[in-house]
Formats: sequence, C-alpha cells, structure tokens
Amino acid sequence: MPEIVVISGVAGMTGSLVARRLLDRGCDIIGFDNYFAGSREEISLLTQYENFHFFPYDLNDASQMDELFRFVTAKMEEFQTSPSFINCAAVVHTKHFYNPEDTFLTNVVGMRDSLHRAIEAGFLKYINCSTSEVYSMNSWMEGGVREDSPVLLATAEQSLRCSYATGKLLTEHFLKDCVNRGLIKGCSIRFANVYSPTEAHDEHIIPYIISSLMKTNSVVLLENAKKTIRTFLHNSDSCDAVIALLDNEKSLDGSIFNVGTSEEISIIDLVAKIAKLIRIEDYLIEFSGNRTADPPRRLLNVEKIEKAVSWTSKIGLDIGLRQCIEYRMKRG
Ligand SMILES: NC(=O)c1ccc[n+]([C@@H]2O[C@H](COP(=O)([O-])OP(=O)(O)OC[C@H]3O[C@@H](n4cnc5c(N)ncnc54)[C@H](O)[C@@H]3O)[C@@H](O)[C@H]2O)c1
Repeated sequence: MPEIVVISGVAGMTGSLVARRLLDRGCDIIGFDNYFAGSREEISLLTQYENFHFFPYDLNDASQMDELFRFVTAKMEEFQTSPSFINCAAVVHTKHFYNPEDTFLTNVVGMRDSLHRAIEAGFLKYINCSTSEVYSMNSWMEGGVREDSPVLLATAEQSLRCSYATGKLLTEHFLKDCVNRGLIKGCSIRFANVYSPTEAHDEHIIPYIISSLMKTNSVVLLENAKKTIRTFLHNSDSCDAVIALLDNEKSLDGSIFNVGTSEEISIIDLVAKIAKLIRIEDYLIEFSGNRTADPPRRLLNVEKIEKAVSWTSKIGLDIGLRQCIEYRMKRG
C-alpha cells in the first residue's frame, strides 16, 4: 500500500528534495505551494513522477485548503491509509524576519490551520519545520545549544527580528500540545542555515557571495559580518533528517530536534574559501549596513537526533561549496 505524504511549500528548497526522495521510494506525494519563493523548475521535474500531485495553492486560502483536503481524503479512502503532513511552507528569508506582518499569517496561522485540518482528516504524523532562529540571543554555548536550553529572545524594544522566531516557537507549542493530547504524532525540527547547490535565490549568503565574486570580484557584507560565525547545513543532510524522523515513530513525541553541523566558519573566511575555490586571488570586501539581533555565533548540539535516528550530517562545507559553485558557473 503506498504511503501518502502531504508536503506544503513543495516548490521550496526542503519540500522539493524531501518530495523527490519520498517519490523515489514509492510514496504518493500531494504537494502544494503558492510560489511565494518556490521554484517552478523543481515542480516541473517533480511532475514527471506519476505519483506526484501538485496544487498551486496557498496555505492561507481556506477554499483551496478545503479542496486539497478533499483530494487527500479521497486518496486515503482509495489506499486505506493514514497520511503524514510535512509543513515546509513558510515565509523564510532574513529580509522578512524584521516584518512581523510578513511572517505571521503563513508561519503561525497557516501552520496551526494545517495541523488542525490534518488531525480532523485522520492524519497519523505531522512534521513541523521550525528554526534555530528561536535560540535568538542565546544561539551559542560550549558544545552547542540544546533543544531544552532556555532561549533569550530579543524584545520589540531591541529588534523586530525575533517576531519570526516567536512565531516559530509558537508552532512548536501547538504541535507539542496536540501530540500530548494524543491527537497526532509529530515533532518539530530546528534547522540551522540550510543551503542548497541549486538554490534559486541569490539572497542567501552562500549563493550571494559566489555570484558577487563571479560577477565583480567583490562582496558587500553587513558590518555584523566582521564578527559573525556560522555553520552551514547541506540541504541533502537536512532532508535526510526530515525523512529519518518521519520514519521513526518513537521520535514523534511532540518534541524538538536540532539539525545542524559543528563545522563553524566566520563569514570573512567563507568569502576567502569561496574565492579560493573559484580561483580568484584579488577580491574586495566592503562593509555596509547592520542587522539588529543578529547573533554573532550559532552552534547547535545535535546529540538528540544522532541518538534517536542515527542521523549525522555527511556533506562537508568544501564539497557543498564546490557543488554550489559548479551549479552557478553552469547557470551563468
Ligand atoms: N533555509 C534555512 O536555512 C532554514 C533554516 C531554518 C528553518 N527553515 C525552515 O524550513 C522550512 C523550509 O524552508 P526552505 O528553506 O525550504 O524555504 P523555501 O523558501 O525554499 O521554501 C518555503 C516554500 O514555502 C512556500 N510558501 C510560502 N508561503 C506559502 C503559502 N502561504 N502557501 C503555500 N506555500 C507557501 C514558498 O513559495 C516556498 O516554496 C521552513 O519552515 C523554514 O522556516 C529553513
């Protein structure tokens, strides 16, 4: 009997790769995306699979969601099975973090609505994509921040950036509450700085640095970047984590899993590494602008997911960056 998985935000970085992996193992995927930031190219690749059903729908459009869930219910009756829901739809990029109105409707209201619809329709599992942004001003400690580490959120007096994190935190509470009440199984995943070689947007830091160096031999960074250190997680590894958790019912106890790497690099060194890989010797870094409440360092402790499902990140930054550069060189 095929497994049915509904994926919101299926045209995005995480949703599209998770969909492809699940299709390859014979799942029926019902995916939707409003193309807010998603890739039409990824959808045209996915539609080559017979068992991929795509709807260009908005999580916040009640009549579209009614229609989608009617389609899912018919499939459930046909296959006599309870589906899973993977919520990848979100307003994600950093430029939106500072505008609460941009993120609230989809990330909070839409997430809660989809969770309740999934429960009402009789879904078995719900995977909630949360974020390491929730650690906010406490994003680093020796050995990495843990899922049960207290968070220190910047308030609106300090920065509006945390409106995104606050919304995502709330989704973790919604899910935990429903799991505690025995309504569904599920977990929340806190990803840190995911990148993909085929990322459509140049706004994320890795594609931005590559494109900028390739075009102008120079990069404009924020003033913050002078002291920012980050880890970067390959999309292949983050999708492995989603699927490993989906497959492990014991982990779906409403709790939270960090997903990240321990390979830290400063943004200045990241530029140097990318320049070396592109073989650019002379490049210029300029600094302009600032971001409030941008944590200087972010390191997650991932022992919980390693123990629960034997997940570990496999693709180191050197290999990942080579893939990103190769893609952007081919694309021109
Ligand atoms: N990329 C990262 O570094 C990162 C880090 C932490 C957490 N996350 C989380 O992982 C999840 C997936 O993120 P991603 O990196 O794939 O981002 P993405 O922007 O590539 O994908 C999100 C998708 O959701 C779609 N979407 C947005 N609003 C929608 C709506 N109202 N209805 C339907 N579709 C909608 C977008 O069009 C896009 O295709 C998100 O929940 C995000 O918060 C990502």
